[in-house]
This record gives sequence, structure tokens and C-alpha cells, in this order.
Amino acid sequence: MSKPIGLIFTVLVVLILGCYWMFAMPTVQSASLSMAETNIERGSYLVSAGGCISCHEGVEGEGLSGGMALESDFGTFYAPNITPDTQTGIGGWQGRDFLLAMQHGRTPSGSFYFPAFPYRSYAGMSDQDVLDIASYLMAQEPVRFEVPGHDVPAWLMRWTLAGWNKLADFLEGEVISVGSTDPKIERGEYLARSLGHCSECHTPRNSIGILQLTKEFTGATMGESHADEIDYAALEGWSEEDFAFFLLLGMKPDGEFVGGEMEAVIEHNTSTLTDEDRQALAAFFKTSKVR
Ligand code: HEC
Ligand code: HEC
Repeated sequence: MSKPIGLIFTVLVVLILGCYWMFAMPTVQSASLSMAETNIERGSYLVSAGGCISCHEGVEGEGLSGGMALESDFGTFYAPNITPDTQTGIGGWQGRDFLLAMQHGRTPSGSFYFPAFPYRSYAGMSDQDVLDIASYLMAQEPVRFEVPGHDVPAWLMRWTLAGWNKLADFLEGEVISVGSTDPKIERGEYLARSLGHCSECHTPRNSIGILQLTKEFTGATMGESHADEIDYAALEGWSEEDFAFFLLLGMKPDGEFVGGEMEAVIEHNTSTLTDEDRQALAAFFKTSKVR
């Protein structure tokens, strides 16, 4: 091979490998969905713990038929219909589709979801939890409701998320592992960092919306809304009992009730948890000093 041809060949190979690295479909198990009552019930609990209803609640229809407008710095996103309607919802989805969406932010056809869907938090969910959520969703009544398309600038195309996700892998930073073997604290960590996606509002982001996990839980402002600092230092005056009680009723140790977007989090998510799970969350947040 002459020199220029060799160079072109090398550049092409690098480009193809680069594209493959960015766009390759992740491998997930091709699980079939169980319609057993135990799985559906577990799924129902996890849908509450995951706060899905805060975004997917039907604005016109019943259940999780979507349509809520989610304002962001990058445009308005409309939460989709996640009832099993075949035309306007997720009818026909298999286990694999749920694993790809919840853990990797990928659509069934391999395209990319916008991070208005907090899949980077849900990515830490176990396969079994994702599949039980799927069992629950597929057991609901299908609701026919067409959700409007997202209102985002023309340059914000789905494929650009391939690059965004890779950048986020580098720039997001590592969370400090709790390093605890106490199952209660581990459960709290799972609820806070994955299912409960507390970081999505309480951790600051950089200018392109990537979470800065090295400043985890130090508070963040989105538009008009400010989510307070909830790391160890901020919670010094709270006991574990105070925190668990707050998650149940939204009342702080000083007797004041929380407002803003946190009201929906308390109503749809943390108040529906078992006492053990609320205590686990409290234990996790109160141990952050030793992290
Ligand atoms: C903060 C808001 C928010 C929360 C909380 C949320 N979602 Fe979503 N979800 C979205 C948005 C917005 C999209 C659409 C993203 C896109 O179009 O790229 C979406 C997409 C989806 C999809 C893909 C639907 C389709 O038609 O392709 C599924 C499935 C889904 N969410 C399930 C869930 C489940 C299950 C939960 C709870 C564990 C959840 N979501 C929590 C906002 C949210
Ligand atoms: C959708 C965004 C959102 C999510 C998700 C969220 N929060 Fe909040 N949170 C807020 C906002 C906004 C406030 C401030 C509300 C106000 O102004 O009264 C807040 C306030 C709080 C406070 C009160 C702090 C103080 O000092 O007054 C605590 C504690 C808290 N959140 C814990 C959590 C935990 C734990 C989770 C995860 C299970 C969570 N939040 C998830 C938005 C969110």
C-alpha cells in the first residue's frame, strides 16, 4: 500500500471503530415477562419507589398514559404513554426492551432517549427489578392517548445523545461508594442513587446537563426551582427518625412543610415506601460523613 492510501485506510478504520464504540447496542438478557401476581405486586411497589407517576401520570387519560410537559433548559419534553396500548403506548414490549430503556437509555430500535427520562440513575437497577416493573406495566389497562412530540431545538437530535452519554461517562465523576456491608445502608444507597433518583434534582449539572457526581447531593437549581443541599453537612441537625418522618409526610424537624417539586416526590414516591425502606434511606443519608 502506498503511503496516502495506508493513511486513508487507517483513518477509516478508526472512524468505523469510533462509531461502533458510540452506537453499538448494549447486550442485555432476552428475558420473557412473568405475569405472576408476585412479580406484578413487586413491580407495583417499585413503580412507586421509582417515582414514575411524577412524570408519566396521564394528563387526560387514566393511569400512566403520559402527556405531562417537562420543562428544561433544552426545551419541553412530554412524558410518553407507558400503558400497554399498541398504537400510542408500549404494547408489545419484551423484557429486553425494558432493560435497554431503563438501564441504557436505548429505544427498542436502538435509538437514544433524552435524559429528561432519568435513565442514568435507573441504570443501577437490578435486572429483576426492571423486569418486575415491566410485569406491572404490561398488566395495566391499555389507554389510547397520543402524547405530543417533544418541543426541542432542531439541532437536538437523538443520535447526539450517543456522544452525550459517552461524555457523561467521563465527566460525571465517580460517586463515593458507601463501602458499608450493612444491608440497611446498602438498600438506602440503592433507593437514593438508582430507584429514587434523588441526584436528578439535588446534584448540580454542568452546562450541557451532565451531573457532577463529585458534588453529589450538594443542591442544584433548575429554572425557578432550587433543590436544597441534602448531604451530611446539611442534614447535621436531622436525626435518622427526622429524615424518615420527612419522607413520609414532608415535614421538616422545624415543623415546616416542604414545597415545590418535592411535594410530588413525597406524595408519589417516598410516602408509599415501607417504613424499612424509609429508614434505609435515612440511614444512607446520615452515613455520608464516613463515605
Ligand atoms: C423525570 C421524569 C420521568 C420519570 C421520573 C420517569 N420517566 Fe420515563 N420517560 C420520561 C421521558 C421524558 C421519556 C421520553 C424520553 C424520550 O423521548 O427520549 C420517558 C420514556 C420512558 C419509556 C420509553 C417509552 C417509549 O414509548 O419509548 C419508558 C418505558 C419509561 N419512560 C418508563 C419509566 C418508568 C418505569 C419510570 C419509573 C421507574 C419512569 N419512566 C420514570 C420521563 C420520566
Ligand atoms: C423532581 C425533583 C426532586 C427529586 C427527584 C427529589 N427532590 Fe428533594 N427537593 C426538591 C426540591 C425542589 C426541594 C425544595 C423544596 C422547597 O423549596 O420547599 C427539595 C427538598 C428536599 C429536602 C428538604 C431539605 C431542606 O433542608 O429543606 C429533602 C430532605 C429532600 N428534598 C430529600 C430528597 C430525597 C431523599 C430524594 C430522593 C428520594 C429527593 N429529595 C428527590 C426536588 C427533588
